Amino acid sequence: MLSSKQFHAVATSSIFAVIALASLGCVAAHAQTKPETSKMPWMNKALPPDERADMVLGQMTLDEKMQMVHGTGWGVLRAGAPVPARSNFGAGFMAGIDRLGIPDINLADSAVGIRMAAYQGRYATLLPSTLGAASSWDPDAAFLYGSVIGRELRAHGFNMSIGGGVNITRDPRNGRNFEYAGEDPLLAGTMTGMVEKGVLSEHVMNDIKHYAFNDQETGRNVVNVLLDKKAMRESDLLAFEIAIGIADPSGVMCSYNLVESHYACENDYLLNQVLKKDFKFKGFVLSDWGATHSTVNSALSGLDQDMPGDDNYFSEPLKKAVQDGQVPEARLNDMVHRILRSMFAAGVIDDPPVRTVVDPFRGRDDAQHIAEESIVLLKNSGGILPLKAAASSIALIGSHADVGVLSGGGSAQVDAPGGNAANPRPGGSHWGEAIYFPSSPLKNIQSKSPQAAVKYSSGDDVAAAVHLAKSSAVAIVFANQPLHEDMDAPSLALPGNQNALIDAVAAANPNTIVVLETGGPVSMPWIDHVKGVVEMWYPGIGGAQALASILFGDVNPSGKLPASFAKNDDQLPHPTIPGLEGVTFTPSGRQHKIKPFDLNYTEGAKVGYKWFEATNTQPLFPFGFGLSYTTYAYSGLTVDDASHTVHFTVRNTGACEGTEIAEVYVALPSAAKENYNRLAAWQRVKLAPGESKDVTLTLHPLSLTVFNTEQNGWQLLPGDYNVTAGPSSSDTPLKATLHVHP
Ligand code: BGC
Repeated sequence: MLSSKQFHAVATSSIFAVIALASLGCVAAHAQTKPETSKMPWMNKALPPDERADMVLGQMTLDEKMQMVHGTGWGVLRAGAPVPARSNFGAGFMAGIDRLGIPDINLADSAVGIRMAAYQGRYATLLPSTLGAASSWDPDAAFLYGSVIGRELRAHGFNMSIGGGVNITRDPRNGRNFEYAGEDPLLAGTMTGMVEKGVLSEHVMNDIKHYAFNDQETGRNVVNVLLDKKAMRESDLLAFEIAIGIADPSGVMCSYNLVESHYACENDYLLNQVLKKDFKFKGFVLSDWGATHSTVNSALSGLDQDMPGDDNYFSEPLKKAVQDGQVPEARLNDMVHRILRSMFAAGVIDDPPVRTVVDPFRGRDDAQHIAEESIVLLKNSGGILPLKAAASSIALIGSHADVGVLSGGGSAQVDAPGGNAANPRPGGSHWGEAIYFPSSPLKNIQSKSPQAAVKYSSGDDVAAAVHLAKSSAVAIVFANQPLHEDMDAPSLALPGNQNALIDAVAAANPNTIVVLETGGPVSMPWIDHVKGVVEMWYPGIGGAQALASILFGDVNPSGKLPASFAKNDDQLPHPTIPGLEGVTFTPSGRQHKIKPFDLNYTEGAKVGYKWFEATNTQPLFPFGFGLSYTTYAYSGLTVDDASHTVHFTVRNTGACEGTEIAEVYVALPSAAKENYNRLAAWQRVKLAPGESKDVTLTLHPLSLTVFNTEQNGWQLLPGDYNVTAGPSSSDTPLKATLHVHP
């Protein structure tokens, strides 16, 4: 990644390049030559995207086709790399075909908001992490999430988002879990699919990534993932299948790793057979940045676009391979067709982005709304929460809670307005730096409780923190786990001295609450010593406002865990991160010198709660768990054998309004040989005190079926299915049976 100096150098040189080219008349800066489109029959919006794509394809020369199947290089991402004059300064750029009215594709990393905005002096909303948003179990919130990204991408002038991470939380220490949506394929697939549907709704091309099994960052370029096909289809690939079915993505990004000894970007099984044939994916496969390793093999295995493209696999060598007949021209046409049809289908040709000033207030409100639904209340002993507005004194300790909230790093990093709130300096974000956004817990907690003495201690000096905690009525310790792409958390433990700090504060003040700002699950050796635990993830630009509303009960927490929290690393299928022992890091914290290694996912499809259930172990907090300030009762589960619908009632038995996420699980008949449940449906149910609501849900067909590898299809086994419903994966008081007859 570039240092700020390098960024500056690149910025300056690229501006000169733009000016120079523009003055030479080569190409106008930021302006594609406007062709006379009225005479182009493919501009008829009434025609289907595939037909329009074929019409364009029929007009294209070989060189024009070649131009579309690769990017033009690292551009602003790499110091010294050329930046195309018309680039919008995103992570990737594909030059359009002016004479045919086909625009450039300007791709922006935008997993949790738009990356690299500082580079252009632009503003972008930081949303809660997608893992946080998945804790809402709210598909509408997920759609809103994507629409914020799409709206702002349009305003910035981008026409393609490369977010949409749906790799399941196979390893809770994966450094990118915060960019994904948890451990369950149905929940993750649904939430990510809805995010990307939201992006598309703004006429911006969307994406699903990293396909597939890039479930850890350690050794991501050399790791060879091993897993049988049945387990593949019922775990990670199921999350992709569901997300792709919902989002109808323009692109699917293949990942860095190998799967069954073939790189993911030249993996015939993953790309041709599963993605394009079985999932009926109509868009194009683009490589992760530098994940292409061959020309002919990649082209024949299903890769459609090489990114960022300067490795030359899909430029001259592919052209030659087509001319030599090693790659049929029909295959090249298919690549281009897929790209063009996605451009027409998304609307980027009919309704291109128009640069506008992003509305930061609307973005903040949307981010706050999603954060309020994302925060998970994990412990609330003696009803310590909600805090009373009249609390006399509150100590806030740690994690820069005086100034801001933590964000996730790597290519998902969004630049903070005004720079890093914890370490302000000019320029954009540095790779690996923990960036705090200016949403101050201190200010927001103080404004909810104006009479209270709200004081902050950094936690660097444990004695000072203890002193403050002792003299306060309530102590809130903010604990963080900064994560970023390219590195995993070495263990589930909170980094640094934070566990010791929490223990020391808890010993000094019996009213201690821990607020977690983590990228994923962490262990909590101090759990029995504190009264409250609130998981707020990386909560986005409205994070502190959302947190304060929850802490003081203006908003009743409703989030539930999208991933299990193990007690410690020993409970995991792989107690240490495979390959970690062979890694050395560069001074900037990037991995290098790793020998290729196999990673055998012996746990198969038993990921997360399925693993805990199959091994009969109790996690610290189970999948689907989350508390509320009110209580709920479940009753009357019935199942309809013909329609696979379930029916039950949820009642608010407490004193305040709340929203309960009601969860339904199934255990398959014994012929499936599974010793775990599967999430099959859920619903958010809003209830006033004393109110009851009837819930009717259809069990998801892919939660009821097993993948039959011989028939290459999903199979509904005859037999009795145990259907259970309740507030979490480990608390399902309602039980009934679904009978499937042969
Ligand atoms: C990441 C992708 C990202 C790309 C472009 C890669 O390192 O894995 O998620 O979209 O870079 O920045």
